[in-house]
Amino acid sequence: MSGFAADAAADAERAAADAGVRIDLLDSPAETSAAAEVLHAVWPNEAGKPMPAELMRAMAHADSYVAGVYVGDELVGAAAAFHVRPASLHSHITGVLSTVRGRSVGYALKMHQRAWALERGIGHILWTFDPLIRRNAHFNINKLGATAYEYLPDFYGPMTDAVNAGDQTDRLHIRWDLAAEHAGRGWLPEQDGAVVVATAADGGPVLTPAPPDAPRLLVELPADVEALRERDKALALRWRTAVREALLPAMSAGYTITGLASPGTYVLEHP
Ligand SMILES: CC(C)(COP(=O)(O)OP(=O)(O)OC[C@H]1O[C@@H](n2cnc3c(N)ncnc32)[C@H](O)[C@@H]1OP(=O)(O)O)[C@@H](O)C(=O)NCCC(=O)NCCS
Repeated sequence: MSGFAADAAADAERAAADAGVRIDLLDSPAETSAAAEVLHAVWPNEAGKPMPAELMRAMAHADSYVAGVYVGDELVGAAAAFHVRPASLHSHITGVLSTVRGRSVGYALKMHQRAWALERGIGHILWTFDPLIRRNAHFNINKLGATAYEYLPDFYGPMTDAVNAGDQTDRLHIRWDLAAEHAGRGWLPEQDGAVVVATAADGGPVLTPAPPDAPRLLVELPADVEALRERDKALALRWRTAVREALLPAMSAGYTITGLASPGTYVLEHP
C-alpha cells in the first residue's frame, strides 16, 4: 500500500473510532440481506427494496464496494459502489438509519470508501444526490469536499419510495477527488455572489436571471424539502422548478458548486 493510501486508511479508522462505529466489507448472503433491510428502512417502499441483497452479493463477489456500519453488533448503515472505467467508482447508494444520523457515522462510512478506493488506485468517486436536500448538500460538499459539476433533470424518472414519490428525481452529479487537500476536510464556502434564487415571504422561491459573467452565483434551498413534500407538495414542486431553472443553465455553462453557504445556499463558481 502506498504511503498516501496508508494515511487514508488511518484517517478512516480515526473517523470510525470518533463516531463509535465499526465498518466492514460485506460479502456473505446473511450480511448483504441485513444491508438490504437497513437500506429499505432508509428508503421505505412497499414496491420493494432499493438495493436487493443478491445484487450486493454479486457486486461484492466482483470486487465492487459493499460495506456496512455497525454499532456493536447492530448494522446501522450500508453503502454500495461499482467500478467505472478507467479508474473511478460510482457510489450508487449510501444510507444510515435515522436513529444515528448527524453523529458522523455517514462521514466514517465515506472515509472508509475513500480508503478502499485509494488502496485500489482509484482517484475519485462519483455519485448523485437530490439538489434540494440541504442536509446532503452540506454533507457531500462542505463536509466531504466533493464538487457538483453536472445537473441531471429527472435522472431516474418517477420513483415510488417514501422519500422520492410524487417529485421529479433531479440529481446533482458530484465528484470527490480523493487525493485533494480538502478531501474529508471540506470547503470553507464563500458567502457572497449574485443571488439567483432566494426565499420569498410566502416561503416560496424567487428566481432572478443570473447576470452574465458573474464570477459567483448563489442559489438558496428550502430549509427541509422532505417535510415540505409532505406538507405542501405544490410548494415543494415550485422549489424543484426554480432550483432546476437556476442550476441547469449555469452548470451547463461551466459553473460548479463548491460550497453551501450558511444556512443553505449553493455557491456556484465559474472556473
Ligand atoms: C446522507 C447520510 C448518509 C449522512 O449520514 P450522517 O451520519 O447523518 O452524516 P454526518 O453526521 O457525518 O454528517 C451530516 C452533516 O449534515 C449536517 N446536517 C444535518 N441536517 C442538516 C440540515 N438540515 N441542513 C444542513 N446540514 C445538516 C450535520 O450537522 C452534519 O454536518 P456537521 O458534522 O458539519 O455538523 C444520512 O443523512 C442518510 O442516510 N440520509 C438518508 C439517505 C440519503 O439521503 N442518502 C444519500 C446520500 S448522498
